[in-house]
Amino acid sequence: MATATVARVFKNFINGEWVGAKSGKTLENRNPANTDEIIGEFPLSGPEDVDVAVTAARSAYKSWRLTPAPKRAEILFRVAELLVKRKEDFARDMTREMGKVLAESRGDVQEAIDMTYYMAGEGRRLFGQTTPSELANKFAMSVRQPIGVCGMITPWNFPMAIPSWKMMPALACGNTVVLKPAEDTPLSSYHLVDTMVEAGLPAGVVNLVSGDGPGAGAPLAEHKDVPVISFTGSTATGRIIAQTCAPDFKHCSLEMGGKNIILVMEDANLDLAIDGAIWGGFGTTGQRCTAASRIGVHKSVYGEFVSRFAARAQKLKVGNGLYPSVEVGPLINEQQLQTVMSYVEIAKKEGAKLLTGGNRLNSGEHAWGWFYAPTVFGDCDPKMRVAQEEIFGPVVSVIPIDSLEQGIEVANGVRYGLSASIYTRNVNRAFTAIQDVYTGLVYVNAPTIGAETHLPFGGTKQTGNGHREAAVAAIDFFSEWKSVYIDYSDKLQRAQIDNN
Ligand code: UN1
Repeated sequence: MATATVARVFKNFINGEWVGAKSGKTLENRNPANTDEIIGEFPLSGPEDVDVAVTAARSAYKSWRLTPAPKRAEILFRVAELLVKRKEDFARDMTREMGKVLAESRGDVQEAIDMTYYMAGEGRRLFGQTTPSELANKFAMSVRQPIGVCGMITPWNFPMAIPSWKMMPALACGNTVVLKPAEDTPLSSYHLVDTMVEAGLPAGVVNLVSGDGPGAGAPLAEHKDVPVISFTGSTATGRIIAQTCAPDFKHCSLEMGGKNIILVMEDANLDLAIDGAIWGGFGTTGQRCTAASRIGVHKSVYGEFVSRFAARAQKLKVGNGLYPSVEVGPLINEQQLQTVMSYVEIAKKEGAKLLTGGNRLNSGEHAWGWFYAPTVFGDCDPKMRVAQEEIFGPVVSVIPIDSLEQGIEVANGVRYGLSASIYTRNVNRAFTAIQDVYTGLVYVNAPTIGAETHLPFGGTKQTGNGHREAAVAAIDFFSEWKSVYIDYSDKLQRAQIDNN
């Protein structure tokens, strides 16, 4: 039911103070399951707000970089402890602003908790190397050093997890942060930053500036005092960010699109594969960069798989993610819904066989949100646009395959390379897929989603630009190596010369 609510007004966090946008402009954060409900008003920031935030982060960097890493990490540990206490409240607010079902929002907050504990532990490691010198009485080591102000531009689909993937390693390494969260989900970033403040983070170390891409994201990426940009979002925007960063050689980490596949082989446990395909394809309403939007099924089990898979998809309960029986929430906004609708039309024109779904849900309990029926296309050709392009919605293309070899070719025959999965009970097939699929993540007998925070996360080809998030890989991105040589021989020793 539609209910009018009075909007709470939220602010940016800059240099330890909560402040509005200088222009006074705001943006509305609405519930995608009930668009009448305004979650809050957030600053619609501009370049002038970004500039003040960067100046604050630059000034805070002077002391933060010299704060011993274990001390920095103690603050992160306290953040994690507070997040544990607030998990339920933050998850509920996340479902209200983003739409995904409560169990998944809890998982999103949990991912932030996991990342924060992990990086708190890193504060007592940040390992470098000590290694022998080729010269006598000379010592050699490498240490990690922070880089400076890190600009972060984050998406709406994991509104607390992804900001934590970026902020926690950056802070553990001694950098300071300006975060620009997605305009559809600023509340979860507000909660995260507010928790960090309460945990004792000094003023200016983390700054939060809400707004849209052109108004706040672009000036952040362009800012001359921001040497590091970490972005998660579409490949189209990532390309613009890379171009923006190129002239100044800014360090730039991009996590972008995916067109992930589950391969179901003839010897697969079909019950398990169907469970995995449902969760991988329709979890988070298909709005994950890791979503299983393609299923390649061996022709000998294809008939049984598609009929059972489509029947299961049809039964999924779509609705408001706060209700316990709901399995699939709404799309994030009208534009995303329009994208889904246009791809469904494209798929039909291309000759894909619509097996279930294919329609917007906008009556009864669905009248007030951006709902779409879980949709399965069968008999897809791997070259069809519906099987090539990222849709970011509840649309799955099923592709018949003849062999493992052909399945791997189909898996690799897209411009993206984030995640892939194979269902098989044959160890040779599993290891062949692990070896030959060119993606950043591979799963065996599990769907394409569900990466854990202590393993590197990211993809190949147009999914990324060679960096990885999470785990030690994130520490690699948010620090720079400094190699140190200490000569205690009391004489000039020339490397490569005096010892040869
Ligand atoms: C994303 O969709 O951008 O592996 C991130 C997963 C989650 C993260 C997804 N842990 O599906």
